[in-house]
Amino acid sequence: MGEILIETKDLGISFGGHKAVNKVSIKLEKDKLTTILGPNGAGKTTLFNLISGLLEPTEGQVFFKGTEITSLSPLQRIKMGMGRSFQLTNVFGALTVFENVRLSLQSKAEIGYKIFTDHRRFSELNEKTERILEEVLLFERKDFLASELSHGEQRKLELGMVMALEPEILLLDEPTAGMAIEEVPVMIEIMKNIQKSGTTIILIEHKIDMVKSLSDKLIIIVNGKFLTEGDPETVSKDPEVLKAYLGGGVLDELAAEG
Ligand SMILES: Nc1ncnc2c1ncn2[C@@H]1O[C@H](COP(=O)(O)OP(=O)(O)OP(=O)(O)O)[C@@H](O)[C@H]1O
Ligand SMILES: [Mg+2]
Repeated sequence: MGEILIETKDLGISFGGHKAVNKVSIKLEKDKLTTILGPNGAGKTTLFNLISGLLEPTEGQVFFKGTEITSLSPLQRIKMGMGRSFQLTNVFGALTVFENVRLSLQSKAEIGYKIFTDHRRFSELNEKTERILEEVLLFERKDFLASELSHGEQRKLELGMVMALEPEILLLDEPTAGMAIEEVPVMIEIMKNIQKSGTTIILIEHKIDMVKSLSDKLIIIVNGKFLTEGDPETVSKDPEVLKAYLGGGVLDELAAEG
């Protein structure tokens, strides 16, 4: 196993009497694109909320690169290098695509308006902004207002804004949700770019083609519990996994695809 970026130990949370996440112990490895898969209501989003600090666990621990972070705030976790797709970004409709990403870079650098007094850093920042826009395939749209973008393009922009924070690990909860089918391959390409740039992606996703072509590893969560993990080929043929998905259809499709 390579370097472990995130580890959970017996992590759990109850809502009322219901254990939405139940003693989950997983390790998320650097440079491995790991997809967390499970039926609706399995606890996947709740697990992300526990890892990113939006929810406080009722049991267990979370570690980031070996340091316990169970009681740290979401902001402290972001500063350590944990990124998450949706709740920490806002697309500003009245600003251009370029300005949205540059603003995010400025907030990361904590230089704010001082940037305008230093010409060299100013152009450095612009170059970095362009690099990120290329990574999320929005360079051609850089002078459009964010409000003029399609839903799918706005999701790309959100990703660009998160990437400006230079996360070491990025948690993406169904990044193609609500996207037109023809936009999905583009999102896959962006995720490959991000992974190539050295940011490790952890994905929650239901789309089979993505899971198969993109993931190094699958982790299956059912009823709040860890079921199994491994390479996509092996896991998708696991009888226990197929049984858990009966009726759900997701892994039936996976198995049918061979
Ligand atoms: N804040 C909350 N209060 C009460 N119950 C909650 C809360 N958040 C989640 N739950 C419950 O916890 C369980 C797990 O929900 P979660 O959203 O994590 O599932 P999921 O695997 O992400 O599902 P989906 O695939 O539909 O997104 C569900 O039964 C849900 O109703
Ligand atoms: Mg969810």
